[in-house]
Amino acid sequence: MASTTSTVVSLVCSTTSSYPPATVKSSATVHFRANSLPATDAAASSGKDQILGRRGLVFTLTAALPLLLPFSKCMEAATAAVESETNGYEVIKEEIRKVVSKGKAAAVLRLVFHDAGTFQLDDHSGGMNGSVIYELDRPENKGLKTPFKILEKAKSEVDAVKQVSWADMIAVAGAEAVSICGGPTIQVAMGRLDSKEPDPEGKLPEETLDASGLKQSFQTKGLSTQELVALSGAHTLGNKGFGNPTVFDNSYFKVLLEESVSSGSMSSMTGLPSDRALAKDDECLRWIKKYADDQNSFFEDFEKAYVKLVNSGARWKRL
Ligand code: HEM
Repeated sequence: MASTTSTVVSLVCSTTSSYPPATVKSSATVHFRANSLPATDAAASSGKDQILGRRGLVFTLTAALPLLLPFSKCMEAATAAVESETNGYEVIKEEIRKVVSKGKAAAVLRLVFHDAGTFQLDDHSGGMNGSVIYELDRPENKGLKTPFKILEKAKSEVDAVKQVSWADMIAVAGAEAVSICGGPTIQVAMGRLDSKEPDPEGKLPEETLDASGLKQSFQTKGLSTQELVALSGAHTLGNKGFGNPTVFDNSYFKVLLEESVSSGSMSSMTGLPSDRALAKDDECLRWIKKYADDQNSFFEDFEKAYVKLVNSGARWKRL
């Protein structure tokens, strides 16, 4: 039975130049496709067409060879880059998981906010640049030497294989801390550069701010009210009275809601003043209700806001 085979070879070789770079999954695309024409199309073709078809194909491939060769080299390089990035990411995750237990996850996640949360959109100062390692003696960073030391050990192991910046290390560590405690799996982009000096002081929100002060503070970092509420859900970890201290779930929102509904105001024993302030604000309360009712939507929004947070003010290595 006559058959005609048309081979379509499609090569797409792309490396990203936009910043932040796409996550490892999508930083390069390589497609090979071999399509067989359906039998009905094959039967409709004459023998001559088939010969011309094959000759045409050989001719096309020969003519395209000089083009295909550089493409194939480019494809090899892109594949190697993706593999190397993937391996690099895996090494970092592996070393982090060796040192970050559930009990240490809260402090590690807090370290992320204290590095990234200095970002100021107007002058592009601060942000996720590893500068928190120079700021550990500031009063607002009390207690963060412990997670720093834990990660320092993991970082030296990673550096022995492939150099990693503090900013990348902290960004991945926070994501792993969330996941270790049962929260969403978050993949962050790699390639942040470290600052060589501390960020300007006084840029993190004070815990005594009311809701409008918190919203304003987050706005200066390019973060919305919804992102403020979702990210504050990180306080579900730790000992502030929001369920199990080592489980990342939506109990932060459930407790905020229950306490503010049952007594009209929250017990001063639960949460920080800033947590209680969110529950008194109508706009924040709408998000609190949504996340208390629907853990998946909290996880989805937390993941997006977390990725935005760890990209705030980051400067990226060029590929
Ligand atoms: C909304 C503004 C925020 C304020 C005012 C604030 C302030 C604080 C304060 C005062 C503590 C207690 C530290 C201690 O126990 O001594 C704390 C704990 C914590 N914060 Fe925040 N925070 C805020 C947002 C965030 C964000 C956005 C994250 C991460 C995405 C975060 C993560 C954490 C975690 C995980 C803890 C528990 C740390 C532990 O138990 O070791 N915070 N925060």
